[in-house]
Amino acid sequence: MLTLGINYSQMHDSAACIVRDGELLFAVAEERISRVKHDARFPQLAIQACLEFAGVGAKQLDEVCFGWQTAGPVYRHDLKLYALGDWPITYLNVLNSTRHFLSMWHQQSGAKRFVQRFGPVSGRMRFVDHHLAHAISAYAYSGFDEATIVIMDGRGAWEATSIWRGRRGRIEHGLTIPFPDSIGVFYSAMTEYLGFVPNSDEWKVMGLAPYGQPGVKLEAFIDPEAAPYRVHAKRLSGNGSGLPPSLAALLGPPRAPESEIEDRHKNIAYAAQECCELAMLSVVRMAIEKTRCRNVCLAGGVALNSKANGKILTSGLVDRVFVQPAASDEGVALGAALEPYLDHGGRLPDKAMRHAYLGPSFDDDTVESTLRAYRLRYKRLGDPAATAAELLCRGKIIGWFQGRMEFGPRALGNRSILADPRDPQMNAKVNNAVKFREWWRPFAPSLKKETAGAYLESATDSPFMILTAQVRPEKRSTIPAVTHVDGSARPQTIEKDVNPLYWRLIDEFGRRTGVPVLMNTSFNLRGEAIVHTPTDAVRTFFSSGMDALVIGSFLLEK
Ligand SMILES: [Fe+2]
Repeated sequence: MLTLGINYSQMHDSAACIVRDGELLFAVAEERISRVKHDARFPQLAIQACLEFAGVGAKQLDEVCFGWQTAGPVYRHDLKLYALGDWPITYLNVLNSTRHFLSMWHQQSGAKRFVQRFGPVSGRMRFVDHHLAHAISAYAYSGFDEATIVIMDGRGAWEATSIWRGRRGRIEHGLTIPFPDSIGVFYSAMTEYLGFVPNSDEWKVMGLAPYGQPGVKLEAFIDPEAAPYRVHAKRLSGNGSGLPPSLAALLGPPRAPESEIEDRHKNIAYAAQECCELAMLSVVRMAIEKTRCRNVCLAGGVALNSKANGKILTSGLVDRVFVQPAASDEGVALGAALEPYLDHGGRLPDKAMRHAYLGPSFDDDTVESTLRAYRLRYKRLGDPAATAAELLCRGKIIGWFQGRMEFGPRALGNRSILADPRDPQMNAKVNNAVKFREWWRPFAPSLKKETAGAYLESATDSPFMILTAQVRPEKRSTIPAVTHVDGSARPQTIEKDVNPLYWRLIDEFGRRTGVPVLMNTSFNLRGEAIVHTPTDAVRTFFSSGMDALVIGSFLLEK
C-alpha cells in the first residue's frame, strides 16, 4: 500500500510524507522548499518532492490522507462557540472563521487543489481527525506496544487536548478536552503578550523563563491542576485582531516586539512556563490513571515544550517517553498516512522512529556543480569529519551540510551550524555573528549516546532534542556554551549506526579535546527556514559570520 500524508489547514506548517507498506520513505515541510517560514499554503512543493522520491505519480497512490477533518466540522465548532458565548462574537472573529471555512470548502479541504495540481487519483481521499492523526504520529513511531498517548496543541477542529490508549497496534480514544480550553491557546497568548510571534516563537518564552523569579500569578488565565487543567479562554481571546484587553489589564502593558526585555517580562515568562509544565504533568497524570500504562507518547504543538517534556520524563510518573519529533502540525502528515492501516480491524505498522533524516539529499556531483556555478573557491576533502573536527578545535564556527535533511523543527546534524561548546564566549559569538538571535536563547549539545551519561543526569537516549535534561554539576563548566542558566540542556544523543558521519565528527572532536560534545544549532539565519539545498547553504554561509562550510565532501573557508 502506498499512502501520502498531508498537513494542510491554512494555519501553519504545511507538509507531506509518503509511506510504502508501513515504511515512512520521505517527509518534508513546505517551508523548507518554498523558503516561507511556517508556510501554511497548500504543500504542492512538498507533495511533488514525495512523489519524485518514490518515483510515482498521483495515480499510483492508494490513499491521499489529510491530517484534518473537512472544513465543515471546524466551522460548526466555531459557530457553536460563538452561540454559547465561549469565544467573543466580534466582527473580525466571525469574518476570520467564515473566510477560512469558505476558502477550505471551495478547495474541498485540499482534495480539489490536489487533483488540480497532480491529476486525478484512483485511490481514496481521506480526512483524518486532527488529534487522531497526532496520536498515530506519536504511537506508531514510538516502538511501544502499549502506550498512553497524550495530545496537546492549540486546536484541532474541536479538540485542544486528548488522551488515547495504544495497544498492539490499535488506538482507543479515552478523553477529549475541547477547544478553546487549550494549553496551546494559553501559551501562545503569553508568547504574543511578551512581544513574540504566537505559534512560532514559543521557544523564546521557554528560553527566557529561567531568568525570571517566581511571584507572578496567572490564575486568572489558567488553573494548571484543575483535574487536569482549566484555561479561562475568554480572557485570552481577543476580538480577532491583537491581544485581548484583559491581559494588559491584569499584567500591565504588553512588551513591544524587539524592545528591551525587563525583569517583569522574565518573571511573566517564568510563570507561564511553570503553569504550562504543571498543566502538562496534570494531563499526563490523569492519562496514566485512565490507561494504567507508564509508557507515554506525546505530540501536538505543546509537546515541543522540551523543558516540560524533561520534567515529565523525570517526574516519577512514567517509565518511558516518546515525543514525536515533528510534534507540531507538520507531524500529522505522518499520522494521517498510517490511518488506512487501522481499517477493518487492522494494526498500525510497528516501526520505531530512530531518526528524522527523512528529507531530500544532494550528492557530491550536485554540490560541486553548485559551487562551480557560483565560481567559489573550494577544497575536496578526504575526510570531512576529521577536517570539521580540526576546525572546531581551533574555535571556528562551521556550517555542516550532509545527507538527508531533517523532518521537524530541529537540525540534528545534517543541516547544522556547529561550534566548540567549551568556550564560554561561544554562545555570544554564534548569537552575534551567525544567528543574530536573542541573547537568552540557549544552544543545544550533540553527544555520542554512549558518553551522554557522563554529562547529563537524564535524557541520555534523546535523539530528537525534544527533552531537556540537567547537565551534571561537575560538567557545567566543561560545556558552558550549551548549558543554560538553570543548568539544563536540550541534548541530542547520536548512535553510531544511525548517523555514522556525525557520530564520527563528535568522536574526532572528542579525541582532540577530551570532550566528545558539540554545540549544534540549526543551519539558518534568524527568521528563515533551515537550509534545504546547497544554494541555500552557500547563501546563508556568505550572509553570516560563519568561518567555514563543510558541504558534502567539500570545504569552503572565508
Ligand atoms: Fe495540531
